[in-house]
Amino acid sequence: MCGIAGYIGLRQASPLLLEALRRLEYRGYDSVGMAIQHDNCVEIRKGPGKVAAVDSECHFAEMPGTLGISHTRWSTHGGPSQRNAHPFFDASKRFAVVHNGIIENYLELKELLRRDGVVFSSDTDSEVIVHLTSQNFKGDLLEAVRSVVKHLQGAYAFCVINNVDREIIVARNGSPLVIGIGQGENFIGSDVSAFVEHTKKVMYLDDFSLARITKDNVQVSDFAGNPLPLQVKTIDWDLEQAQKQGYKHFMLKEIFEQPQVAQDSLKQAVSITVRPARIIIVACGTASYAGYVGKYLIEKLADVPVINEIASEFRYQEPPLSKDDLVVAISQSGETADTLAAVRLAKKHGVKTLGLINVVDSTIAREVDQVIYTRAGPEIGVASTKAFMSQLVTLYKVAYSLADRTFDPQQLVSLITKVLEMQPQVKEIAQKYYHHPHFLYIGRNRNFPLALEGALKLKEISYIHAEAYAAGELKHGPIALVSDEMPTVALCPQDQVYAKTISNIEEIKARQGRIISIATEGDERIKSVSDDVLYVPKVDDILYPFMLVVPLQLLAYHIADLKGCDIDKPRNLAKSVTVE
Ligand code: M6R
Repeated sequence: MCGIAGYIGLRQASPLLLEALRRLEYRGYDSVGMAIQHDNCVEIRKGPGKVAAVDSECHFAEMPGTLGISHTRWSTHGGPSQRNAHPFFDASKRFAVVHNGIIENYLELKELLRRDGVVFSSDTDSEVIVHLTSQNFKGDLLEAVRSVVKHLQGAYAFCVINNVDREIIVARNGSPLVIGIGQGENFIGSDVSAFVEHTKKVMYLDDFSLARITKDNVQVSDFAGNPLPLQVKTIDWDLEQAQKQGYKHFMLKEIFEQPQVAQDSLKQAVSITVRPARIIIVACGTASYAGYVGKYLIEKLADVPVINEIASEFRYQEPPLSKDDLVVAISQSGETADTLAAVRLAKKHGVKTLGLINVVDSTIAREVDQVIYTRAGPEIGVASTKAFMSQLVTLYKVAYSLADRTFDPQQLVSLITKVLEMQPQVKEIAQKYYHHPHFLYIGRNRNFPLALEGALKLKEISYIHAEAYAAGELKHGPIALVSDEMPTVALCPQDQVYAKTISNIEEIKARQGRIISIATEGDERIKSVSDDVLYVPKVDDILYPFMLVVPLQLLAYHIADLKGCDIDKPRNLAKSVTVE
C-alpha cells in the first residue's frame, strides 16, 4: 500500500532514494518523506503530496549522507498531512522509521506508551514502532527491533535507522520487502523497481524475519533470533521495461503492450495434471473479472464446476471446502492481502492451491502449491490492463489443459494488434460522450465480466459513475436508470447470445437511451439500434473477450484523458493492496 526504500553504501543516499520514491509512487501518493543519517544525526524531511511536489519544497537530494530510508504513503490511519507523513522520529530524534502495512493493535500500544510519557506527533498506527524501538534499545538496534516485533499485530514491512550505527534494520510480516545486493552498497525496496538499475541480485525477505543490512553485509534471522540462509536470486527485467517509452501514460503503453503480453503468456507451460472435483477462483478487482471469464471457459470446455469468490468475502466465510477441490488465486501483484488470506484459508483446510500470478517470487507465488506465471511484465499503471490480458490467456490455457487440449489460437496476437488500430475511432467516441456523469455497461455470458471490467476501468480513472449488468438483468430494475443522460456501452459481438443482447439494446433504445455498441465487423443490423458502433474483428465465439477488452480499456483511457485526470495515479487508489 505504501512504498518504502532504503540505501546504505558509499554514494549519497538521497538522490538514490528520491529516484526510488518516483518508481514506488504507484503504491501510494498521499505524502512523501526521507530520513538520512549524517554526522551522528538523523535528518527528516517530509510533506503531503506527490513526490515531485514534496521534493520541490523539501529538496531531498540536498540532504547529505550515505545511509537513509524513504517512504511514499497511501493513507490508512490519519489523513494525508505533514504530521502523518513518514518517516517518524522517537522523542530523542535518534531513531527513525518507515512502515508499510497496518499495525492492528496500535491503539492499545499507544495507550501503553502514553502511560510511559510518550507524546505522539501523528495519528498513524506506524509511529508506535519508533517509540517502541527507542524504549527497547539497549545498544543493539537489531535486538531492539526483535523485541518490538513481539508487540506488533498486523501486517508490516518496516525499516529502522538510528543516528550512529552504520546499518539499516528491516522487519517483515505480511507486507513485501526486497533487498538489493550491490558491491559495497545495499538497497531496500517494496519492490525491485526501487533499485533495479543498480543491481539485479535480490533477496526477498520472508514473513517473520528480520535483516541487519550494512554496506557490505546482509544478515537475516527469524523473530526468535535463529539465523536464516541468504537466498539471493538474479532477476531478469530491467529499468526500460518500467518506463514510459514515449507514451503519455503508463496505462496507454501497457494497453499497447498487449499483443506482446499475449504472446508471452501463450508460451507459458500450463499443465493441470489432477482434475479437481470443483474449482474455486479467488481474486479481487480486475483479477476477479478475469476469473469470471475463466468460469465460463472451464465449465464449457472441461466440465468442471467453478465458483467465483471475491477474496475479501471468501476469507471470512466458512466455505465447505473438500480435499478434491482446487483453489485458484489470481493476482497481478501477488501481494493482495485478501487474496493471500484466501489462499491461506484454503491451505488450512488442506485444499490444493494454484496461483496465476504476474510478479515473480511475490508472496502468493511463494505460498501456493503450484504457480503459473502470467508473464505480463511490470505493470505500473494503477488501472490494470495488460495483466488482465495475461490472466485471460492463462485461464484459457488452464481450461484447455483441464479438457486435455492445447490452447493454440492462430492469429490471436495479430488480432489483438488489429483491435488496437481502432484507437482513433475510440477517441472520437470518447470526445462525444466524456461529459456524461453516468454510464451503463451490459453484456451476456462470457461478455458480462468484460462489462464489469469496462465499468471498473472507467470509474477508477475518470471518476465517472459506471454500472455493469448482465444484459438480461436490466428489466429487473436497472432499466429505470436509462435516459439520454446515461449512455450504455453494449457488448454485442456475433456470438451465441447475439440475438438476446440485441433485444436488450432495443429495450434501452425504446427508452431514449444512447447506445455505444462494440460489435463484430460487417454487422449492419447493429447500426440500426446504436448511436455509435466500434467494430472488432470476427473471431471464434470463445475468443471475443480478447477483442472486447481492448476498446473498453481505450474508451476509459481517452475519456479520463479528456477529463484531465491523473490516469496512472487515480485518487484514493494504490497499485498493490497489501492491507485489508
Ligand atoms: O494485484 P492484484 O491483481 O491482486 O490486484 C487486484 C486488484 O486490486 C486490482 O485488479 C484493481 O482492481 C485494479 N486497480 C483494477 O484496475
